[in-house]
Amino acid sequence: MDGIGYSEYTEGNAVAEGYTPHLDWLLENCPYTLLRAHGTAVGLPSDADMGNSEVGHNAIGAGRIYPQGARLVNEAIASGRLFQGDTWRKLIDYCRRNNGTLHFIGLLSDGNVHSHIDHLKAMLRCATEVERLPRCRVHILLDGRDVGETSALDYVIPFEEFLRELNERTGSDVRIASGGGRMKITMDRYEADWGMVALGWKTHVAGEGRAFPSAREAIETYRRENPGVIDQDLPPFVIADASGPVGPIRDGDSVIFFNYRGDRAIEISRAFEEDDFDKFPREPRPKVAYAGMMEYDGDLHIPKNYLVSPPHIQQSMAELLCERGIRQLAISETQKFGHVTYFWNGNRSGKFNPDLEEYIEIPSDAVPFEQRPWMKAAEITDRVIEEILSGRFDFIRLNYPNGDMVGHTGVYQAAHIAVEVVDLCVGRVMKAVEKAGGILIVTADHGNAEEMFERDEKTGKVKLHADGRPKAKTAHTLNPVWFIVYDPEGKGTLRINDRVPHPGLTNIAATCFQLLGLEPPEFYDPPLLLVS
Ligand code: 3PG
Ligand code: CO
Repeated sequence: MDGIGYSEYTEGNAVAEGYTPHLDWLLENCPYTLLRAHGTAVGLPSDADMGNSEVGHNAIGAGRIYPQGARLVNEAIASGRLFQGDTWRKLIDYCRRNNGTLHFIGLLSDGNVHSHIDHLKAMLRCATEVERLPRCRVHILLDGRDVGETSALDYVIPFEEFLRELNERTGSDVRIASGGGRMKITMDRYEADWGMVALGWKTHVAGEGRAFPSAREAIETYRRENPGVIDQDLPPFVIADASGPVGPIRDGDSVIFFNYRGDRAIEISRAFEEDDFDKFPREPRPKVAYAGMMEYDGDLHIPKNYLVSPPHIQQSMAELLCERGIRQLAISETQKFGHVTYFWNGNRSGKFNPDLEEYIEIPSDAVPFEQRPWMKAAEITDRVIEEILSGRFDFIRLNYPNGDMVGHTGVYQAAHIAVEVVDLCVGRVMKAVEKAGGILIVTADHGNAEEMFERDEKTGKVKLHADGRPKAKTAHTLNPVWFIVYDPEGKGTLRINDRVPHPGLTNIAATCFQLLGLEPPEFYDPPLLLVS
């Protein structure tokens, strides 16, 4: 149940206020506990960091905590290692040799899910103060999804001030060159909509699109023209002065995609790197040196050059279950397909053993999900029931995206429906599991839909707009998630082991081994159940 967490608050809680008879029944009748799904429990820098699907699925799949991208990049910058590495040198030398420009493309916020603005600033400082590059350009993707829904100017205005001061101090010429909402351009994932990447290419690389004198004016204009629009959906823009666009990407330039998380970075990286690329025409395709912040796909090695090594997640549960001959199915719709495959397997897109594993992707609609909060939950359920009853698999993992994808839209009514859809589908899966003589674990990777209104951190009060409407919250949360075990035939032989210290998502893997009748690896965090 992606993005369905637990919160004691009921106001703005689409999970508590939704009609969820199956979830209610499970909580009434089955062993369950709450798991930590954010912060240090999933390898993030601090407990102020909300959970997200990458680190959540990595943690569930790996069975133990790995320091994650956000932390690894912080450390590489603090120690200076990032700037001593081959990739940084290569990019700096390339644009120096060609009298080129150093470009940065990425998500401009401190959401710490895909990127952090401090990483960008540190690289710009080094590029100008230390490397003395005369010219850098920044292509900004506006967030509103991991941070406040209309907070873009809270980042853009201070960032423009930072650039002004940097330019004055170093004599360099660093400017924002283009941008747009992250759900409109560049940051598509799992090939759900290549059109977004094509539009990003046109904007950042060709410098084509509606022109504005500054990012601030672009944002203010689009907001005036589209009342109620949230940042993730703002249209693309190009910054231009009297002589035209200020920063198209040209032969001899270097490009850094500064997001560390991979799912939404792979497609644009492929567009820059692949010679035989057929997803959209790349006219022009400049000769550049390209690097990502991290390696985004450890199987396909995308991108070829990266600044910081990713966590090397080894011996995750899919791999070890293959070694033990367990037949496995992973299923979701496009929007979360990579979550139960690529993230689950430690950011590798391949299978460990194709003879034992099957991955099913139900194609997602390319629509705003507040318009279709049911998404493909029914289709996923139809298919999984068929597969459960077929007896072809020993272990099935399924992700319902609704709580998360609809939660991110900030539309409360839609989130309500999303949660009820998931509950309805869980009810159907329960019946199939019972028929097949199986056991069902109901859990989530992080919270989202249980907190649809912004709250004041100190008082806990819901924040209101001037007209009294609650302020929508589009981001994930710091809340725990349920871990429920439905064992229709078990007659009460399973109990939660209350002595497991700080139970979190990493305890799930060993618990699955336990329920499959296998000895969990001793390097996994301990299982959550006592079996009598
Ligand atoms: C996104 O990429 O949609 C959000 O930044 C995070 O959502 P997810 O972690 O649930 O995918
Ligand atoms: Co999400």
